[in-house]
Amino acid sequence: MFKKIMALVAVGVLATACGSGGDTTAEGGAPAASGGGDSTITMGFAQVGAESGWRTANTKSVQESAKAAGIDLKFSDAQQKQENQIKAIRSYIQQKVDVIAFSPVVESGWDTVLQEAKAANIPVILTDRAVDSADTTLYKTFLGSDFVEEGKKAGQWLVEQYASETGDVNIVELQGTTGSAPANDRKAGFGEVIGADPKFKVIASQSGDFTRAKGKEVMDAFLKANPDIDVLYAHNDDMGLGAIEAIEGAGKVPGKDIKIITVDAVKDGMQALADGKINYIVECSPLLGPQLMDLAKKVLAGETVPTRVVTEETTFTQEQAKQALPSRQY
Ligand code: AHR
Repeated sequence: MFKKIMALVAVGVLATACGSGGDTTAEGGAPAASGGGDSTITMGFAQVGAESGWRTANTKSVQESAKAAGIDLKFSDAQQKQENQIKAIRSYIQQKVDVIAFSPVVESGWDTVLQEAKAANIPVILTDRAVDSADTTLYKTFLGSDFVEEGKKAGQWLVEQYASETGDVNIVELQGTTGSAPANDRKAGFGEVIGADPKFKVIASQSGDFTRAKGKEVMDAFLKANPDIDVLYAHNDDMGLGAIEAIEGAGKVPGKDIKIITVDAVKDGMQALADGKINYIVECSPLLGPQLMDLAKKVLAGETVPTRVVTEETTFTQEQAKQALPSRQY
């Protein structure tokens, strides 16, 4: 609604359009006034799903921030399926929302629906995850973590921990959702750092789809096929927590017999780190809501926004987790 009002102010027809009632489409495909003089921004948000503690915290952040910012949020959960997200985005286009924000399940395959949003003059903001579209004019900005950097931080910790080790270090990797930006980038960043020393061997690497259940299932299989696992690198806490159950079920001690590195730093992960079951966590912050609402307002007001906004993040050792836990928000 906000954008419609802004567009009408720009062409000087606000006074006549107000009170006309009913949505119409102006010439050139631009949305026209629906009447009533409502300046509330409507945002359509297509969420990935509810696959992890991180995602739950992210959804809460987006919903609470929209409310605080006075933005009318239309929210959909794609249950980790790209086709559901595409349907949701098309429905937001039909509803003529002012702005669309979404966290793409996977990186590829978005050009058509993003072109449809652009043709309808609805700005799109990417949040959390990136798309691989060559045409970067299809979205206004991308707000989220640097996943390659997160993978590098995980690799750097491992290199330091095993600096004096002369034998092979056998690593198993639980990847996030296949084709997703965090799975691709966390794998790449980690591989780049450990790849400098041939003693680090990734002996198995498979997707656990960012869920606890799949993390357990895949780790069970890793343990059966590989008797000598030194390290588990899990692309998120939830898969790491599922894997801990598998490791304990196999009679091994997580954090000791198998060192564990995860990404996210949600409360459950931080508790496992404080308890010594996880050895190191690279933070990935889900609290993107306030910045997202701020960016949406700026985009709709015609202000220039940076094309990339990177989230600030840290890392946690066991001691740091113990200190951070009491005030951890998610
Ligand atoms: O895109 C961010 C990732 O998605 C989080 O690291 C993971 O927990 C979530 O499912």
